[in-house]
Amino acid sequence: PIAPSSAPPSPNITWHPSLTRAERSDLRKQKGCTVWFTGLSASGKSTIATALEQHLLKLGLASYRLDGDNVRFGLNKDLGFSEKDRNENIRRIGEVAKLFADSSCITLTSFISPYKADRAQARAMHESTANTDSPLPFIEVFVDIPVEEAEKRDPKGLYKKARAGEIKDFTGISAPYEAPEKPEIHIHSEKTSVEEAVVIITKYLEEHGLLK
Ligand code: PPS
Repeated sequence: PIAPSSAPPSPNITWHPSLTRAERSDLRKQKGCTVWFTGLSASGKSTIATALEQHLLKLGLASYRLDGDNVRFGLNKDLGFSEKDRNENIRRIGEVAKLFADSSCITLTSFISPYKADRAQARAMHESTANTDSPLPFIEVFVDIPVEEAEKRDPKGLYKKARAGEIKDFTGISAPYEAPEKPEIHIHSEKTSVEEAVVIITKYLEEHGLLK
């Protein structure tokens, strides 16, 4: 068993030793990882992630997608879209994704996650070897689209509302989006089909030994 490397946040809490990550993935015959999609609203991140989830499930692999809108119906229903709430949204999702990935699942997250520091924190949670035997792979996928293009698509009518001042702090219009500088995968979504994006990401996972 691996001993905890940091003090507990509250008194009277002790870390319970469990299977190592390596033992678990050997028994499940699958390695866990997190594929972290980031991009503007209407960039296509949820559509690509859903198609990827379906593809991986058809290959017989455990995969699960955490979705920005959906998580706000439950776990994160107390959070809005201020910078502070988005920080907390992404911190919680980072922790949840890490648990899924730790269970040997290919975890897909589709959140705008507009702040570099929040994405870096989610990556650090995965790559940390505190309380574990090995880091979890964290693959950042930037679903890149010019804001004008996202605004043209506007499937939920949110850009229109944001322009009319009916939604405040709307990413790309009245709130920032900090683009990744060195994502593992960069998809230009106005030039790449959903099927092509799934092939690109699956190839990356295969080349990094994450599909077995
Ligand atoms: S964040 O920034 O990562 O905390 O956002 P996320 O949890 O991914 O939620 C984004 C979805 O919420 C809807 N929505 C908004 N998006 C951006 N800005 C504002 N102000 C806003 N209000 C509601 C919108 O449907 C987003 O979904 P996607 O799938 O990205 O279009």
